[in-house]
Amino acid sequence: MTKKFKIAYMPGDGIGQDVLEASKLVLEKADFNAELIPLDIGFTIFEKEGDPLPERTIEALKECDAALFGAITSKPRSDPSVQSVEKKFGTTYRSPIVRLRQVFDLYSNMRPSKSYEGNPLNFRKIDGTVPNIDIVTFRENTEGLYAGIEFESLIPELKKLPNFASFQKRTGAKDEDIRVSCRVFSKGGCDRIIRKAFDYAKETGRNKVCVVHKANVIRATDGLFLETAKNIAGEYPNVEWWNENIDATAMWLMKRPEEYSVIVSSNMFGDIITDQAAMLTSGLGFAASASTSKDFGVFEPNHGSAPKYAGQDKVNPIAALKSMSLMWEWLGLTNLSEKLEKAIGQNVIEAKVRTYDMGGNSSTTEVAKDIARIFESL
Ligand code: NAI
Ligand code: MG
Repeated sequence: MTKKFKIAYMPGDGIGQDVLEASKLVLEKADFNAELIPLDIGFTIFEKEGDPLPERTIEALKECDAALFGAITSKPRSDPSVQSVEKKFGTTYRSPIVRLRQVFDLYSNMRPSKSYEGNPLNFRKIDGTVPNIDIVTFRENTEGLYAGIEFESLIPELKKLPNFASFQKRTGAKDEDIRVSCRVFSKGGCDRIIRKAFDYAKETGRNKVCVVHKANVIRATDGLFLETAKNIAGEYPNVEWWNENIDATAMWLMKRPEEYSVIVSSNMFGDIITDQAAMLTSGLGFAASASTSKDFGVFEPNHGSAPKYAGQDKVNPIAALKSMSLMWEWLGLTNLSEKLEKAIGQNVIEAKVRTYDMGGNSSTTEVAKDIARIFESL
């Protein structure tokens, strides 16, 4: 008997529902012994209960091996619907995704960006050639500018700093006109994400890592990131590595994306370059991610809830299916993961059943059914 996995099923809001429903069509065809556990997360549940990530969801997740997640709707604090719910329940809205990452210490956000043969959305260089892109980015997922250490009014300690005093003098900004978001890195935080990227490069035979930072300007935090990378790289003599400033990476990704293989970066930089890499490899309909700790993982498409398409059975399910493939890979079920990757590739090449973003007019369900059919035949 193979192990029976407990998989959390969290569609969330909007098209999160459409794409996870479609993923089930492939799941049903897989030799995967699993119980799906539906759990609440997102804006709809926030409106009902005042919390977008209820305690019962967190408790249930602790009993699961992994989670499939769709997408959620997030609205700014100034949005009247946020304000009325906050007033009704006496709570403050906090992103359930950021909270999930922090509660479960999902420090590694892995995002593959791969071009599929025959995809009309593949990036074309100015000379007309279509580069073969296959990049896997490891983005630190719990620290840095997204850690939520922010001040909307000035703290007295800050005013005592000489650098801050000169900033205020130079800009003439009054105390009440200043807001602060802190970029906090820890040595352990840098160490584990960089190690993860080097381990992956070694284990997959990619043997090539680019470390992305801005250490010449953001000296304290990115200085630590780069220094840590230099130390770790010494332990991997067979992995070729180099480092780049984030702005240079943004440029070279457009010019010669085929030269990157594994990239590792901090939270915000990793977020930005993976969106860029996603557009070079067919956009949000294809972008998936694995957010993992040592012993738990959340697998999700990178896109949001796209409210204008919600419930229309219209959007591309491939990003959600790729997330499921990443889940299988992480669970050690590489045969399932590779089979699904192949099925997606074949659907793209066959060019018959495609959603609107790829120039087709098939529905979410039709594309998922087609991929499930190919999957079953492999
Ligand atoms: P979005 O990713 O939801 O949609 C932007 C546009 O991308 C869509 O209008 C659509 O044209 C296209 N698109 C997205 N997914 C697609 C798919 N599977 N197939 C084909 N086309 C697709 O981003 P947007 O509009 O900025 O945000 C909508 C809501 O989603 C917001 O409330 C935002 O906060 C939230 N969001 C949630 C995320 C998450 O749950 N991880 C990530 C990004 C945004
Ligand atoms: Mg993003």
